[in-house]
Amino acid sequence: MEKIAVLTSGGDSQGMNSAIRAVVRAGLTYGYEMIGVKRGYKGLIENDFITLGSKDVSDILYRGGTFLQSARSEEFKTEAGQNKAINNLKKRGINHLIVIGGDGSYRGAQSLQKQGINTFGLPGTIDNDIPLTDYTIGFDTTLNVIQDAISNLRDTMSSHERVSVIEVMGRKCGDLALQAGIASGVDAVIIPEFNYDIKAIANQLSQGFERGKTHSIVMVAEGAGTAKEIAEVIKEHSILDTRPTVLGHIQRGGTPTAFDRLFTSRMGHQVIELIHQGKTGVALGMEKNKITSHTFDEIFQSKNEIDEKLYKMFHDLI
Ligand code: ADP
Ligand code: F6P
Repeated sequence: MEKIAVLTSGGDSQGMNSAIRAVVRAGLTYGYEMIGVKRGYKGLIENDFITLGSKDVSDILYRGGTFLQSARSEEFKTEAGQNKAINNLKKRGINHLIVIGGDGSYRGAQSLQKQGINTFGLPGTIDNDIPLTDYTIGFDTTLNVIQDAISNLRDTMSSHERVSVIEVMGRKCGDLALQAGIASGVDAVIIPEFNYDIKAIANQLSQGFERGKTHSIVMVAEGAGTAKEIAEVIKEHSILDTRPTVLGHIQRGGTPTAFDRLFTSRMGHQVIELIHQGKTGVALGMEKNKITSHTFDEIFQSKNEIDEKLYKMFHDLI
């Protein structure tokens, strides 16, 4: 019986569990033996494998996090680390490896593929920073977490007539800030992909208060600056009372949205179909509501770009 292993790597994201469930259940349906690797590439190096049956993935569809756990491994970046991982896979007779992770994890997957391991990727990161997919796993859930947090902030900011500067994750990508900002009707969005004029933002906020607004929300992507520094500079350029909030790891938790559950179920199922068809070395994603796949080389040759039209639209709507 051919064997397929699955692991989750890098920063966890809501929907990873649902992806594992789909991979395992579809794999079993297609007649494969399914194996879970604990703690990402760390577990691959340390030979930390578990056999997965259908029941082992019961009750995880709706849970955030990843029951296989995740890790970052410096050792895996070295030739010696990768050799250990490859030997462990070979010793166990594993023919295919599915990596659920972000950009860094994909680099690792590409490297294994180049060394003869049939490797596949599912885009597991809240950051939405992977090329050739409209969404990454957990992005939609995180948008909802941010939206809820902003709703809470509005209550207290209104009572005190303050400006809330909220910092969200995303590494170098401003998608979380921009899309959550639009969905939450914030007053300004500061993201790494575009320059911004803090004086103009301070003026715009001041005018809002002069017109009778009782609060304002400024969204800053972590790749563009910190909430603390932006809140301080707005204060320097206005008489507004500002408060910084760093949303932090709260953004990575919570039950995955229906979108993330469906998206991951579709990809998990499709990756098994691709394996069954004899494909190798591809990562999956969703483009225009279709599940698509591209080689790791194609992905790394492409650039993940922010939707400029959305950025313009945001400004047309404030
Ligand atoms: P993410 O996958 O969420 O982007 P990281 O960038 O931390 O998270 O990468 C996760 C893991 O992938 C790293 O700890 C490392 O083991 C592996 N990795 C990252 N970059 C490379 C690389 N260039 N070559 C091989 N492995 C890598
Ligand atoms: O890549 C996901 C992510 O949550 C980023 O948005 C953030 O910069 C980073 O991981 C945080 O990493 P850690 O969990 O190691 O603090």
